[in-house]
Amino acid sequence: MDTVYLDGALVKADEARISPLDRGFLFADGIYEVIPVYGGTPFRLTDHLARLERSLAAVEIDNPRDREQWQALFDELIRLNGGGNQALYLQITRGAAKGRDHGFPSAPLEPTVFVMSLPVSVPAADTPDSATGVAAVTRDDIRWSRCDIKSVSLLPNILLRQQALEAGASEAILVRDGFVTEGSASNVFVVSEDGIATPPRSHAILGGITRDLVLELCHEHGLPAAEREVPESELRRAREIWLTSSTKEVVPVVTLNGAPVGEGRPGDQWKQLARHYVDFKRHLCGLD
Ligand SMILES: Cc1ncc(COP(=O)(O)O)c(C=O)c1O
Repeated sequence: MDTVYLDGALVKADEARISPLDRGFLFADGIYEVIPVYGGTPFRLTDHLARLERSLAAVEIDNPRDREQWQALFDELIRLNGGGNQALYLQITRGAAKGRDHGFPSAPLEPTVFVMSLPVSVPAADTPDSATGVAAVTRDDIRWSRCDIKSVSLLPNILLRQQALEAGASEAILVRDGFVTEGSASNVFVVSEDGIATPPRSHAILGGITRDLVLELCHEHGLPAAEREVPESELRRAREIWLTSSTKEVVPVVTLNGAPVGEGRPGDQWKQLARHYVDFKRHLCGLD
């Protein structure tokens, strides 16, 4: 896992160097993507590249590669890092300018492009019958109002995740004005007497690729799921809560703020969905 890509070169991770004047370092002026890889194949790559394009456009950084070039680069890096299951982390910053001015430099900069491979653990959805689930806590959503941009400016998310860890939980589920937004690094699904629901796409959440896939799978397999506002009261009385993200897939939450969710173990709807998720993944990546 130690060959990385930086600005045109494939190098060992501990040899990669960026300038301290890079605007990613000085201002968190950049965006990122995390793409899961199964059996050597990037998963839902088109969706990740489309979101990358949206994030870049939103922060006015020109996309430094076209889709074929990204795919070729990823394939090479996956191969150099041993294939199999891994996750690619891609970061693009506005580049390094002279000095430190908040405004964009007048002379166009060369964006800094960094890609590394990260190891992944076996997600809970792979083994639904032995999954134990995780604990979550609720926290006020203290982030900005463009959470749809996958920005590297993650300090609020980091502080919220750390609060969850210090409370003995894995994730902080965020609430803004009485409604659930998402997790500090995940989207949220709630199963209640009103059905399966996840907050709608808006500037208040990141449009998760896993979230979209879970919605697709729910519809395909007759688990009716709605994209609608989820009041905090519905979260608190939920029978099931799921967290979704590219590296963790679909994770059942079994306690919220120390109280059991439903029966305090992964729910039946989650188990059904987890099986569909694994089947879909195996089929798409030729792992059958
Ligand atoms: C804030 C936030 N929301 C949602 C997600 C899930 O997105 P995806 O399923 O595309 O990984 C992430 C992933 O890191 C995230 O950081």
